[in-house]
Amino acid sequence: MKVLVIGGGAREHAITWKIHQSPKVSEILIAPGNGGTAGLGENISIAADDIESLIKLAVDRQVDLVIVGPEDALAAGIVDRLQALQIPVFGPTQLSAEIESSKAFAKQLMESRSIATAESKTFSDFELAVNYSEAQETPIVIKADGLAAGKGVVIAQSHEEAKSALHDAMVSSIFGDAGKTVVIERFLDGLEASVFGFCDGKDLAMALPACDYKRVFDGDEGLNTGGMGGYSPPEFVNQALMEDARTQIMQPMLDALRESGRPFTGVLYGGLIVTEGGLQVIEFNARLGDPETQLLLPRLNTDFIDVVEACLEGRIREISIDWRTDSCVGVVLASPGYPGSYPRGLSIKGLDNMDDDILVFHSGTTLDEGSLVTNGGRVLTVVALGSNMHDARQRVYENVRRIEFDGMHYRNDIAARAI
Ligand SMILES: Nc1ncnc2c1ncn2[C@@H]1O[C@H](COP(=O)(O)OP(=O)(O)OP(=O)(O)O)[C@@H](O)[C@H]1O
Ligand SMILES: [Mg+2]
Repeated sequence: MKVLVIGGGAREHAITWKIHQSPKVSEILIAPGNGGTAGLGENISIAADDIESLIKLAVDRQVDLVIVGPEDALAAGIVDRLQALQIPVFGPTQLSAEIESSKAFAKQLMESRSIATAESKTFSDFELAVNYSEAQETPIVIKADGLAAGKGVVIAQSHEEAKSALHDAMVSSIFGDAGKTVVIERFLDGLEASVFGFCDGKDLAMALPACDYKRVFDGDEGLNTGGMGGYSPPEFVNQALMEDARTQIMQPMLDALRESGRPFTGVLYGGLIVTEGGLQVIEFNARLGDPETQLLLPRLNTDFIDVVEACLEGRIREISIDWRTDSCVGVVLASPGYPGSYPRGLSIKGLDNMDDDILVFHSGTTLDEGSLVTNGGRVLTVVALGSNMHDARQRVYENVRRIEFDGMHYRNDIAARAI
């Protein structure tokens, strides 16, 4: 098979790394890819949201399968376009992807099926939104309805802060159209875990759970980022909780999507929180997570292409998916200034000095006359497996300390709470 992977982050490097091992795959194109995917296939310099050029690429190069990484392309309807051309594609249609691209829609569907989630109300009118939020207890959570690259959520500690977040989104339009509508929801307290269902429209197979770290600094201080690292499995998620996640949340949501005419094929991502009142949904996404993918695919023994084909052919229930029991820890190395502005083109050293079984997935890297330089905010995800979390954590940090670029920073506390 000739496979086209869309995206250029560490998630897509991990997908490319995994399918490169498949005996079914003979050629991989990655658009746009990065310095890490360059060694596994052909990087094609087309942005992940340039739908027209991606469609043309898939047709011209006669690819047999497209795997879509990022949400923007899904929300823009790339799957519908490829399906219309009979090109097999792994990912949900535009309407199904609304489970991520409209938080208001997601809340409405959850409420209609009594899927446990924070009580909420949706507003498109600023004054009404402010009035409602002022009648609620703080902290209160303000969410832009649409896609906002992980920056659309504010946990307001006071009514004043809530009002200013509502103003930013609804009046100043800092998220563009994505913030014209907002969801205001109750704050939930607990530990968060991400779960994933490989979905074939009707049924799903659960992947392993994982935890990610969104804040930039140790101890969950500082601004939100795209994700600074993570670990799998989470120590607080047992079999019974996973079974609850499947039967009370993931399968009911898949049913709800199908029954509302939006059968979901691809990866349904449940952002869950374990509260005193039980398991609740924080959000759904319509694709694999980053950095979770970098933690999960190394633990997957089964050929990922077999999983994808089972989803596309409506037989996910018929295959057995085999996972390694190892613990896994991933640490993201970021550019100086990230998640604010940062320089590019910094020379990266030390990657030739990694232990054999350490995995390094690239995101913001590129090759500059053959040598590897930074090219984004998050630069690398360094991943180690171990027989237990302590071992995996120790090994990942030993190797992280051998990598250098000017101003590189990373969190020191990834997976610390699991030990
Ligand atoms: N009701 C809530 N109570 C407490 N914390 C919340 C709540 N909703 C969101 N959060 C926090 O804000 C983070 C981001 O929220 P959410 O996942 O809805 O936004 P997102 O921008 O779609 O995230 P992602 O980039 O992961 O898709 C959550 O991981 C969680 O830590
Ligand atoms: Mg989301």
